[in-house]
This record gives sequence, structure tokens and C-alpha cells, in this order.
Amino acid sequence: MEGASGEVPAGHEPEGDEARAGDRHGGGVSKRLYVKTYGCQMNAYDSGRLTDLLSVHGYAATADPADADLIVLNTCHIREKAAEKVYSELGRLKQLKNRQGQAATFVVAGCVAQAEGDELVARAPVVDVVVGPQCYQRLPELLDRRRREGRAIVATEFPPEPKFDDLATPAAGAGAVTAFLTVQEGCDKFCSFCVVPYTRGAEYSRPVAEVLAEARVYAEAGVREITLLGQNVNCYHGEGPDRVEWGLGRLIEALAKIDGVARIRYTTSYPADMDEELIAAHRDIPELMPYLHLPVQSGSDRILKAMNRRHSAGDYLRLVERLRRARPDLALSSDFIVGYPGESDDDFGATCRLVEDVGFAQSFSFKYSPRPGTPASLEPQLGEDIKSERLVHLQALLAAQQQAFNAACVGRELPVLFERAGRWPGQLVGRSPYLQPVHARLDATAIGEVRTVRITGGGQNSLAGEACHEEAVAS
Ligand code: 5AD
Ligand code: SF4
Repeated sequence: MEGASGEVPAGHEPEGDEARAGDRHGGGVSKRLYVKTYGCQMNAYDSGRLTDLLSVHGYAATADPADADLIVLNTCHIREKAAEKVYSELGRLKQLKNRQGQAATFVVAGCVAQAEGDELVARAPVVDVVVGPQCYQRLPELLDRRRREGRAIVATEFPPEPKFDDLATPAAGAGAVTAFLTVQEGCDKFCSFCVVPYTRGAEYSRPVAEVLAEARVYAEAGVREITLLGQNVNCYHGEGPDRVEWGLGRLIEALAKIDGVARIRYTTSYPADMDEELIAAHRDIPELMPYLHLPVQSGSDRILKAMNRRHSAGDYLRLVERLRRARPDLALSSDFIVGYPGESDDDFGATCRLVEDVGFAQSFSFKYSPRPGTPASLEPQLGEDIKSERLVHLQALLAAQQQAFNAACVGRELPVLFERAGRWPGQLVGRSPYLQPVHARLDATAIGEVRTVRITGGGQNSLAGEACHEEAVAS
């Protein structure tokens, strides 16, 4: 993925540190589980599967850590002081006692768990179990061992069997209109700034049948939009029912045939892995939304080479051209890193030129942050001032492009999938094909439906509009 676990479309991070609420499995449950999720959508997906798995073992989710018997922090290590944040959160939470006046059991999961391992227990003795992203399916067994052995348990190995085999069938949260579905995990690209290959391990694709089965569970539960997740989702190569490896384009074609699936998205993609079949899918499959997160990181060939990216700026521009030929209204988003070691004014200028050339609908940009154990962290570093200055400049450019993209939607009629009630009575919020939130006055019965909306206003981050018809768009 490029994302936090890969090129995490960090755009989804601001929604941020999210706790899963609600008892999804009903009565007879005595233990309470609080999960706090940091980072990318893949962590959000993992937290969902972990919640499903633990519900089978008698845990009901709670949104209140003070109410929990088991507290799981599902952590992210992609940028800056990730471990420090986890230590201070543990410091805050350890004061809590549950209803029986007992301290909760603490689990640190995810990429900080993977990176810190034993160090976590040494520095934060309150931690009972440390579990890496490839082992969380073993959490019930690890919790048992913790009880039996009376000492902290650390599980950070990369098991030979894929974790998905041992996970419970997803419960597909009641009423959800959209769902994430991990199809690929891990990364073998080793971009020199990135921790993901170390925390998420080697690249792996789930078999097609398994992905389709999970998608059917979601569709039957009322989910209309599925976002396929992977650190390098477009290098997907899962085994098909015909024993031949399928690429992502073919997988999307099969998913689009499932009854009820109105929209498909995928994230995050690596530019050098966009193949012809996937580009053609953007032309041929109406369910595949015309929005693509395709991180380029930098517009300077010198820096791209130093980053160990396997594409040049020119390769990226040519790819964008091919994609737009296939799907002329395709909107693009990207991630950028500024202040990578050795980045000159000219290199940064090349990044700004690439931004001008492409025209992004949305983007995410970060100051380079040295990650322990990665090659770039050993290089001489640029000063914070120059990084901050470049970030401000780039973000102004990207914000202006986003505003212009949103403004250009005004007056158009767009199909909007409505997901939930808005902040004001009588208002619903949905998403346009280009992932913009759209607010419109509509009856709640439209939740879960695609309606045509005439766009009347475009702000920095969202659109406003009026529903054109009473009926849902056939999909
Ligand atoms: N410093 C800054 N940004 C980073 N990213 C990944 N690693 C780093 C790092 N060390 C960014 C990349 C990636 C996104 C998820 O996070 O832009 O695409
Ligand atoms: Fe993405 Fe590169 Fe990190 Fe792999 S190593 S997840 S391709 S940024």
C-alpha cells in the first residue's frame, strides 16, 4: 500500500483513532471489549475481524474503555512517534478499573506491536499481550496463555499459514452500507522510507473464492459498496477457482456480478503494478468507481530512485494518461513525502510541477519522518524548517486543486450512495463516485440507495446537493 500499512491513504486517517461500538452479537455476553484503532483502513478492517473473532469467545464491544474487561490498541507505525503515542495512551488507560473493580487486560496489536515486541512489555508492564498483525487470529489462545502462565505474552512471528484461514466469518456490522475487504497484505517493495515490509511482512494474496465468499456475506447483510484493501492491492494475484492466478481486474469483474454490490473501490495501488487488465476494468466495469488513490510520493526522478520506487515521474504521468483514456472522468489522489533526505529545491519543484500536470482531486502529504530500521533513516536528514516550509507550500497547492475539483462538480448530476444521517434533521450524507461526501435533504429510507443528486455547492471537503428523483438509481 502503500500504506500505514502501506501507502495508507492517509486521507482516511483523520477519521482516526476510532473505537468500535455496539454489541453486534447479542445477548448472553458477559465480557466487554474496547478496541481503539490507529492508522489505515487495513487496521480498521483488522479491528473489525478481531471484534468478530472475540465475540465468538464471549466478548461484546463497548465504546467506553472504562467499561471494558479487555482493551486492545490496534496500532500504526507509519510515521512519527507512533510508539510514544501508544506508551502515553497505555499510561492513561491503566488507571481504569472495570465494573468489578478490576484492571482490564491490555493487548497491543498492529504495527507498533510488531516493531517493538518485547520492548513494549519492558517499558509498559501493564501490557498483557503483544500481538503482531499476522498473529491476531491467535488472540483468544494468547489470552488463555496469559492467564495460565501469569506473564506477558509476545507473539510477533510471521506464521506460515495465512491468518485469514483462522478468522471467524465476518459479522458485517448491522446496517452498514460500505465495507472494507482485505484481499492482499504485506509488501515486498521496500521503499527506503517505509516500515510496512517489516511490520506487515511478505506480500500475500487471498484466494479468489475466499474473497468472493466474504463479499457475499457483506452483500447479503445490505452492504452496497466494497473497498478492496491491500498494501499493494493492485499487485493482487490470488488463486482462482480455475487454479490459475487472477489479477485484480479479474477479481473486480467477479465481485461486480454479486447481487447487491453497487460499487467497488480498491486501495492502495503501486504505480508500477497497474496492469492492462486493471486499466481496462476502469473502462468496462460500471460498478468500479472512477476514483483512484495512486501514490507517487515525489515528482523528482532523483528522489524516486533514492526512495527505491520502481517508477519515474514520466512513468507516472504516462500511466495517468492511459487511465484517463480508459476512463475520462477518473479522479486521482496521491500521497507525497516532502523533505526526504537529500531533497533539493529543484527536486521539490519537480514535485510541484507533477502536481500541476496531473491535477489531483484530493491528496495527502507528509513531512518525511525517519522510521527505525529503514535505509532512509540512516541518511543525513534535512532540517525541520525546510520540511515544514515545503509542506505548507505543497498543501496549499493540493488544497486549491481539491477546491477546484469540488467547485467543478457544481451543476452536475451525480449518483450518490447514501450512507447515514447527516448532522441536521432531514439531511443524509453519502458519497459521490469520486469519494466526496455529499449532503442532501432526503428521507432516511434512502440510506443504502444510490440516488441522483444535482450538486448545488462545493466546499473544501464536501458537496451539497438536491435529490433529483424520488427513486433509487437502478444498480
Ligand atoms: N515518512 C513520511 N511519510 C511516510 N509515509 C510512509 N512512510 C513515511 C515516512 N517514513 C507516507 C507515504 C505513504 C503514506 C501512507 O504515508 O506517503 O504513501
Ligand atoms: Fe507502499 Fe513502498 Fe511501503 Fe510497500 S514499501 S507499503 S510500496 S510505501
